[in-house]
Amino acid sequence: MRPTNLKTKIFLDGGDADETRAIIKQLGFLDGQTTNPTLISKNPGAKKRLERGEKFTEKEIYEFYRGVVTTISGLMPQGSISVEVYADASTSADAMVKQGKDMYSWIPNAHIKFPTSREGLRAAEQAVKEGLRVNMTLCFSQEQAAAVYAATRGAGKGEVYVSPFIGRIDDLGENGMDVIENILSMYRKGDGHVAVLTASVRTMDHLLYALKLGSDIITVPYGILKAWGEKGMPIPGNEYHYDAKSLKPIPYRDIDLGRRWDDYDIRHDLTDKGMEHFSADWNALIQTRKKKVA
Ligand code: E4P
Repeated sequence: MRPTNLKTKIFLDGGDADETRAIIKQLGFLDGQTTNPTLISKNPGAKKRLERGEKFTEKEIYEFYRGVVTTISGLMPQGSISVEVYADASTSADAMVKQGKDMYSWIPNAHIKFPTSREGLRAAEQAVKEGLRVNMTLCFSQEQAAAVYAATRGAGKGEVYVSPFIGRIDDLGENGMDVIENILSMYRKGDGHVAVLTASVRTMDHLLYALKLGSDIITVPYGILKAWGEKGMPIPGNEYHYDAKSLKPIPYRDIDLGRRWDDYDIRHDLTDKGMEHFSADWNALIQTRKKKVA
């Protein structure tokens, strides 16, 4: 059962409903799930189909994604399920909103994931106005999180998540956990309409430290969540020390949350690379249209 002193929401990071079932059975609770194009491409059903040499048509892959999230939603009707739009460097905000609205209609408990890029923020601003819940993905900096706050001003509590990707920041040799700590501190000056969702969790220590910092939500891959359950779902107290090893610290910046979203320094290489990677994984599932022979 859910530990009584657990304030953070625990999500599963994955694209396979069997894992969702197993974790709910093991922990006795789950607050939500995040999916993304890469995780859907790793779904055993999708992998089997590709191994048979059969790719999906564009219509089929959306039907497949819809099927996966519908099953997960049924397992967790009270939880939040994040569903990600397709976005490459040329996808416009309007195209993202159009996809987002369609995906939002798939299940009653969706948060729609848009990238924390210029077009993604534009899409989020529009989507929130139209009443959609959003999860801003591929966030790597405090400035980007300030832009998310500004673009979604007016949204209600629980309607907006920002997902800083700590593992991918660590991969650069910088301390990803500092970004979580800095965003949480910055948001304390705000109205609380954006929840911090710690993502790209790679280790048990990422999970434990995010719990200690009081991240609103943490999304955790199956193996780490299972191991946390096996340890009795520990929640670290003041005695816990996170060892950042040789990772370079990222200092806190005093950023004013009152500016327009496009006044912030939004661009980040990892956001661009992440979009490239997600769209490539998605496109690899789809059969390319045969060119007409004249
Ligand atoms: C979840 O919302 C993210 O898409 C996920 O945590 C990314 O993790 P990765 O950096 O391991 O791909």
